[in-house]
Amino acid sequence: MDYQAVLDDIAATIQSDLGTAGSVADYIPALSRVDPFQFGMALRTRDGLEAWAGDALTPFSIQSISKVFSLTIAMRLAGERLWERIGREPSGNPFNSLMQLEREQGIPRNPFINAGAIVVADYLVTLDDDPESAILNYISGLCDEPLEIDEEVAASEAATGFRNIALANFIKSYGKLDNDVSTVLDVYFRQCAVSMNCVQLARAVNYLCRDGIHPLRDDRIISSRQARRINALMLTCGTYDTAGEFAFRIGVPCKSGVGGGIVAVIPDSLSMCVWSPALDAGHNSLPGQKALEMFTSRTGLSVF
Ligand code: DON
Repeated sequence: MDYQAVLDDIAATIQSDLGTAGSVADYIPALSRVDPFQFGMALRTRDGLEAWAGDALTPFSIQSISKVFSLTIAMRLAGERLWERIGREPSGNPFNSLMQLEREQGIPRNPFINAGAIVVADYLVTLDDDPESAILNYISGLCDEPLEIDEEVAASEAATGFRNIALANFIKSYGKLDNDVSTVLDVYFRQCAVSMNCVQLARAVNYLCRDGIHPLRDDRIISSRQARRINALMLTCGTYDTAGEFAFRIGVPCKSGVGGGIVAVIPDSLSMCVWSPALDAGHNSLPGQKALEMFTSRTGLSVF
């Protein structure tokens, strides 16, 4: 298949329509200043072929996409113990909802809602001396490029992250957070503020379409069973209360971020990343979803 031609064609269609719908995330002030008239798309096949189109080399804030990497590291370090304090069910609620936590006594539904990712960060604080560097170096090793944390975004979220502060304190009140709330949140806010572009992200999640094998070096990142489990969680929980709609329309495991990025994995085939900052009400990139839907319908690729 000529993936480059498919991407070029999709990019041209999406670019002609930018700015007509959706809005840039504004609850993190630094993100509200991003130009919505940008769109990028990149893929990497299981065998290492790469293709990209549009603004695929422009860095953006990966935000919740970072939860895929922190979960991967935590699964490696904690093994099955991880699931003692985190569930594996879709929440059917927005990513930052507090409601279920009280009913379910401080056990987040899954590792991709904010509450779950905060507990994952807590495991990393316990299991690694320098979790922030561990996450950054890990992602950087996967895409084989140096990466940075956008300090302005990190500070902006730390100053306004009232819901995450509430979530972390609420979990702590149930005795389900081992470390200081502020230490855990610092790791979480900083992992969300990593800057990457579409090409780097398509490469960095490529191990999920290669049964857990590193995209570039052929050594194992995680077991193939763990890779399958992360893909299952992305499909069912990766886009929060719109995961059903994503599965219905796009049909592959996805993980979104409020920076406008979405990574997608087609097991045994390829990994990809789309990015465009305008979000819908579910906080997922609108042009990004459209591009993914076009890609899976044109190529016939899906997990179903
Ligand atoms: O915690 C937050 O609210 C942000 N740092 C990340 C949220 C996010 O990306 C949700 N995904 N669509």
